[in-house]
Amino acid sequence: MRDVCAAWTLKHKPKSLRDVVGNKETIRKFVDWVKSWEGGIPKNRAAFLYGPPGIGKTVTVEALANDFHMELVEKNASDYRTEEAIKRFAGLASQYGSLFGGKRIILLDELDGLTGTADKGGVKATIEIVKTAQCPVVLIANNAYNPRFSTLRNYCILIEFKKPPAGEVMKHLKRICLREGIQVEEDALKFIARRSEGDVRSAVNDFQALAQGKKKLTYDDVLWLGYRDRQETIFAVLRMIIYSKTCEGAKRAVRMADVDLDMLFQWIYENVPAHLTDPHDLASAMDALSMADVYRGRIRRTRDWSFMRYIIDFMTAGVAMARVNTKPSGWIPFKFPQRIRMLSRSKAERAMQLSIGYKIKRKCHVSAVRASKDILPYLRIIFKNNADMAAGLAKWLDLDLRMVEYLAGSKKKSKDIIELLS
Ligand SMILES: Nc1ncnc2c1ncn2[C@@H]1O[C@H](COP(=O)(O)OP(=O)(O)O)[C@@H](O)[C@H]1O
Ligand SMILES: [Mg+2]
Repeated sequence: MRDVCAAWTLKHKPKSLRDVVGNKETIRKFVDWVKSWEGGIPKNRAAFLYGPPGIGKTVTVEALANDFHMELVEKNASDYRTEEAIKRFAGLASQYGSLFGGKRIILLDELDGLTGTADKGGVKATIEIVKTAQCPVVLIANNAYNPRFSTLRNYCILIEFKKPPAGEVMKHLKRICLREGIQVEEDALKFIARRSEGDVRSAVNDFQALAQGKKKLTYDDVLWLGYRDRQETIFAVLRMIIYSKTCEGAKRAVRMADVDLDMLFQWIYENVPAHLTDPHDLASAMDALSMADVYRGRIRRTRDWSFMRYIIDFMTAGVAMARVNTKPSGWIPFKFPQRIRMLSRSKAERAMQLSIGYKIKRKCHVSAVRASKDILPYLRIIFKNNADMAAGLAKWLDLDLRMVEYLAGSKKKSKDIIELLS
């Protein structure tokens, strides 16, 4: 497989326990149990590692086997769904040492898959293996407390893995940066790590999606991830407001949402027409929204925030109660309000113009704001029409890629300019 195709979760999978982030105490407990086998068979012949997905349970066992030069026999639930299949490799568990003198460790991964009714025999056979094992057996599941495992648990030392804190996730991402030769702003890493909420696997996947093929990753490059999340919350809130059967339910949605009320208003206002297809329903929803708007104006003028509850009532309960005749009509997507899209674009654009302004200021001794107003329009004309001159200017002003792209107005033109630069 070509390098670019490899998943970074595999390519940068820790080979040693040293490189597994988080759960240090937990891992020590696990290591101690494995070591205890040197002194003879311990009380529990199996360790049951459990905890949420993507935090390093499997990788811990693999890294340990590597560090201790043990032979790892690894199976997951699909390999031992049936009693018969389990018995087939139960023999492996009956010896500690392998033919070549190395020690053996057995891993039965993803046990959660064994809990279906069809797999009654699977859990039973697992218990049999554990009872008689002559080498360490490791079981892994997300939830060790599934009633199906209650007997099995009696034979195991239970080891709980917890989500590593964002700082630990960052450590792992930093290691990947080093190995991939990518320069990343600290804030960008922090953002990805926090967002993953301890799920290292998904943090690595996000990171690969954003950073692969780049030499540098900035905070701006990763921000849209958060934006994607916010958009999902707002969809849920809109759905609760427009489709709520009770006033209370609709109002609760707003309390739940961590969004600006003006923004929420815009979202409701632009989405209601697509969802309330009956004209009478739509008219009364719009009535409610216009009442909310009246009170918004009143707050702006009087600074009397006690009107706020009327705004919320009209925006939520008012809209929810408007839906009387509209027939349910399957799935209608929500769309991003046009007005907010325009505002946010022009904000990003202003920021870009100003940052180019600062570059100009360094060379031309005018203020950045002035430069972005007076000089930037000429730059745009040059960058659109004269790649040679643009390249010279880009070099002189020390513009970065995104600035060149912005001024040139298209990816193709900026590519021409950048080629001249190198
Ligand atoms: N604690 C961790 N330290 C380093 N990498 C991790 C960690 N947890 C997960 N990963 C990465 O995510 C991948 C999947 O992790 P895995 O151990 O299978 O998670 P789990 O078994 O807890 O679901 C690993 O191959 C590794 O690339
Ligand atoms: Mg796993």
